[in-house]
Amino acid sequence: MAGADYDLIAGLDRAKLPRHVAIIMDGNGRWASFHGLLRSAGHSAGVKTLKKILTTAVNLNLEALTVYAFSTENWKRPHAEVDFLMHLFSDYLEREKAEMHEKNVRLRFLGRLEAFSDGIRNQIRDATELMKNNTGVKFNIAANYGGQDEIVRAAQKLAKKVAAGEISPEDISAEIFESELDTAGQPPVDLVIRTSGEYRVSNFLLWQSAYAEFWFTDTTWPEFTPEEFVKALKDFGQRDRKFGALNK
Ligand code: FPP
Repeated sequence: MAGADYDLIAGLDRAKLPRHVAIIMDGNGRWASFHGLLRSAGHSAGVKTLKKILTTAVNLNLEALTVYAFSTENWKRPHAEVDFLMHLFSDYLEREKAEMHEKNVRLRFLGRLEAFSDGIRNQIRDATELMKNNTGVKFNIAANYGGQDEIVRAAQKLAKKVAAGEISPEDISAEIFESELDTAGQPPVDLVIRTSGEYRVSNFLLWQSAYAEFWFTDTTWPEFTPEEFVKALKDFGQRDRKFGALNK
């Protein structure tokens, strides 16, 4: 483990760590314009932050980390920016795959992958296949992802099972529903972090974050650090979570 991360983690009560952290990596564009750079430079800087945060999650042995890389609505951005982001995903998988595997990370993509090019889908398939038996951090990249879309897709899958006579409508419980979501088999989200001073959910993990705690910061994603990540985790450890019940 890198020295800096070791010092950071030293003061953490691991028993109070969230099992599943989800991050809305916002503010790449604002960071870039503040520095007189193109938006694409902001996204490239965002990838560097992601690498550091994933490393910290590995060092902490978090159970699951999900990041919002591209929403179902992000296709509305200028063609050049969408194209750049696609290149970035491809480049990221190419460059980081081996190191992630070495760190025992289990990679999964959430969202409608059929919208991506054959090349990217092949890379995603190869990377997830490579890491499928890994037992470390479950690292989910939400790409062409929307929480409502995920719920609709789960409902469609269940409706097909009902129509085929495999299950009856009464069999559908929250657990059965969850098993059709992209995050099937993973713990619910405990903590959502959003950078860059926005206070919105933006269609991210709507089902999974039903009882999540939220942590917001004005820091833009390229400037977000492992120190601030650990600060959010420590703050989470102080929260009084009631899950709709009363305190004992
Ligand atoms: C939001 O910032 C960020 C995105 C829509 C893209 C997030 C992508 C990355 C961090 C890099 C690529 C990720 C992977 C997995 C390789 P924004 O552009 O909306 O910023 P703004 O609100 O300041 O304009």
